[in-house]
Amino acid sequence: MAIRTVGVVGAGQMGNGIAHVFALAGYEVLLNDIAQDSLDRAVATIDKNLDRQVSRGKVSAEDKAAAMARIRTTMVLTDLGPSDLIIEAATERETVKQQIFDALQPHLAPGTILTSNTSSISITRLASRTDRPEKFMGFHFMNPVPVMQLVELIRGIATDQATYQTMLGVVESLGKTAASAEDFPAFIVNRILIPMINEAVYTLYEGVGNVQSIDMALKLGANHPMGPLELADFIGLDTCLAIMNVLYEGLADTKYRPCPLLTKYVEAGWLGRKTQRGFYDYRGEVPVPTR
Ligand code: CAA
Repeated sequence: MAIRTVGVVGAGQMGNGIAHVFALAGYEVLLNDIAQDSLDRAVATIDKNLDRQVSRGKVSAEDKAAAMARIRTTMVLTDLGPSDLIIEAATERETVKQQIFDALQPHLAPGTILTSNTSSISITRLASRTDRPEKFMGFHFMNPVPVMQLVELIRGIATDQATYQTMLGVVESLGKTAASAEDFPAFIVNRILIPMINEAVYTLYEGVGNVQSIDMALKLGANHPMGPLELADFIGLDTCLAIMNVLYEGLADTKYRPCPLLTKYVEAGWLGRKTQRGFYDYRGEVPVPTR
């Protein structure tokens, strides 16, 4: 099936990056959010991030202007119904995602493919409550979306081959690479990455190292572009904790228990960069470790 029009639900960190890469690849994008503020901020962020790419010679000024012209916004979720492809990138809460798919369902075109950018919720379960589980997939982008090469494609138990093939083509058209994952808790990237981050928090909790030494160790000792605690702040500590809980409950194995220190940071509302404080304090000129 040919995909031309794309509806993106949620204009946050992931949604704006997804709209950015689709518009740049020539798709018509309709971006939805419940708040006009978020839509305005998303468009401004896309504009700024495209400018970065223009200034580094990765995108021409004409292509940037064409991409911006392909992005429209709406606060009316059901406007997205007729899109060829819908990508849900709303808050990582199953009830929120469920309400979005329920509201969209009566307005969908017969061929519309439904996808969710969830980082850990069961695709099979989300799909089973729609009228088209065979046309439903997990479509998991990495942050920052315009920079990261990988997209995870997750088939639910009912996803058909035609939908999977179409989505492989879409990933290719974005200039990205797909990793196919089966539908088990946290898929591939987060199954491996988030327990590593959780272990880094245990290393801090047990006093084996401080924030600085742990991050330096992994950056210089394992060539990671960011240390695990810096990366946790980048992802959001609430998201890291939510994913650990999905692993812990979904796989029923104590090796996935979230570190109490991670829970404490989340309880404090120190969620990382988005709240200006996490394992680092971002309120000053340079990030300062909080432990
Ligand atoms: N849009 C467009 N371009 C961007 C960008 C954005 N949002 N953010 C960064 N860039 C570009 C920069 O312009 C720069 O371009 P050039 O290479 O052409 O100079 C390049 O990306 C590198 O950026 P910086 O020089 O500013 O900074 P950096 O070298 O420190 O790299 C980083 C930043 C790419 C984020 C790097 O630190 C990195 O790869 N970190 C790890 C990211 C990661 O692991 N992401 C996955 C998180 S897990 C996830 O997302 C899944 C989940 O469900 C939780």
